[in-house]
Amino acid sequence: MSGPAADPDRPSAARVYDYLLGGACNFETDRRFAERIVAAMPEARSAARENRDFLRRAVRYFRARGITQFLDLGSGIPTVGNVHEAVPDARVLYVDLDPIAVAHSEVELAGCPRAEVVLADMLDPDAVLGSAAARRLLDLEQPIAVLMVSVLHFVPDPMPAIRRYVEAMAPGSFLAITHGTRDARHPNNDSAVRLYDETGSASVSRDRAQVEALIDGLDLVEPGVVWTPQWHPDTAPGDGDPRESLIYAVVGRR
Ligand SMILES: C[S@@+](CC[C@H](N)C(=O)[O-])C[C@H]1O[C@@H](n2cnc3c(N)ncnc32)[C@H](O)[C@@H]1O
Repeated sequence: MSGPAADPDRPSAARVYDYLLGGACNFETDRRFAERIVAAMPEARSAARENRDFLRRAVRYFRARGITQFLDLGSGIPTVGNVHEAVPDARVLYVDLDPIAVAHSEVELAGCPRAEVVLADMLDPDAVLGSAAARRLLDLEQPIAVLMVSVLHFVPDPMPAIRRYVEAMAPGSFLAITHGTRDARHPNNDSAVRLYDETGSASVSRDRAQVEALIDGLDLVEPGVVWTPQWHPDTAPGDGDPRESLIYAVVGRR
């Protein structure tokens, strides 16, 4: 399975996000691009951190409910906190179509038999689920958590792929999604969204109802579609406006 060739002269969504998180796996072109995003939306950095914090809370929530295998689609660069670290006794398959994200993941995962990475397009579920790594690591007869965290806003028509993953999930499985949205009503949202076109990962906004529709056919896990910091927070909410996290979170259970 092949993805696009790594191009250090063009910003990549994976490396821009890594930079926003304070990671070191990015090029000058990614840093310049990320600074333009931050200039348009100063909340972009904290939004990336809130998104990553949601990811860690969600995987611990799933682990506490007996889930020991995770499929992380659009997993990105594993610099700043990662699923197999948050749930050290679980098996994890990471999937990304960015060759640099995958190369960094391979280095990070060397010597870790419970976690592997596959270079693949998540929109090709048969390739992902049929990969040798998936067959080694995942048992689809048992419940699994499938993660689509901060990836679907780069996907214009994700429903056929989502349905295929949901079909493959055993009863008791979870699907976790986070998604950027114009519902945040940020004055510069549109210009920031247009900026992302330069990465080759054109960005798609979905509103609350459209985000909920992504888990169609699954039971909506409480508290439903909320801003990322509002999903099972570890601490009492601060004074900030949760919309500044710019990203919705939703979890469905099969
Ligand atoms: C913003 S990063 C999110 C990383 C991680 N999921 C997180 O939230 O911490 C988005 C990632 O999705 C990947 N991506 C975008 N479209 C994809 C697709 N169709 N298949 C697989 N990965 C994709 C990008 O390469 C990038 O690494």
